[in-house]
Amino acid sequence: MRKKIIAANWKMNMTVGEAEAFLDTFLLELGDESGVDVVIVPPFTALAKVGERLSNSSTVKLGAQNMAFEKSGAFTGEISAAMLRDLYVRYVVLGHSERRTLFGETDAIVNKKVRAAHEASLKPILCVGETLAERDADRVEEVLETQLRGSLADMSSKEIVETVIAYEPVWAIGTGRVATPEQAQAAHAFIRKTIAMIADQAVADKVRIQYGGSVKPDNAKTLLGQPDIDGALVGGASLDPRAFVEIVKAGASIEA
Ligand code: 13P
Repeated sequence: MRKKIIAANWKMNMTVGEAEAFLDTFLLELGDESGVDVVIVPPFTALAKVGERLSNSSTVKLGAQNMAFEKSGAFTGEISAAMLRDLYVRYVVLGHSERRTLFGETDAIVNKKVRAAHEASLKPILCVGETLAERDADRVEEVLETQLRGSLADMSSKEIVETVIAYEPVWAIGTGRVATPEQAQAAHAFIRKTIAMIADQAVADKVRIQYGGSVKPDNAKTLLGQPDIDGALVGGASLDPRAFVEIVKAGASIEA
């Protein structure tokens, strides 16, 4: 069985004070829920404080939104894997569509980052997904396969098992236009089939695949109930502690 993993990608939101206020409510409302893995992914500036607040939690882990592939040196503005480890970060979101489209990250760059993360024992959350134009042109599978093969190149089976894949159709991100459960399930099943080709079936059966794109409390349960949907990567709704708790509980109710 794959344990569900629900992550809050705060993107470029939340000062340290706002993050603390979020956690006051979130941790209280979450209680001792332990049926799912939860990851909070704050901006870099709030990692230390959020990590401190999560240090006693066995359910809620810390994630980062990006990372350099270089180990250290003259890379002004960049953050290394070791720096993240230093703050008790466990997961790192890599290849998010906003990084791919706004900051020019290619599959080759994302691959270097995913491999650097594994080398430092950080678990990557690798994002893939098609644009609306690609979906309309019937190119979803081709795009996903290219992104997966490029981003997962030269990795061991063990590393692939420990990579969380996030299927995030670009047209569903921040638009309120969620993929239907059928569209999402079809893409997830294809991603799993592709992982079986890149590695093998045993690896594919173990890899967790999250859905991301306008996940809200009212659509979470149906999405998370699909056989190949193992979690959610939540943007907008994760900024509201009560909405995010509801999404986590929707995941836990399916596990139970
Ligand atoms: P929204 O939930 O705001 O659509 O964002 C999804 C996302 O990009 C998570 O990484």
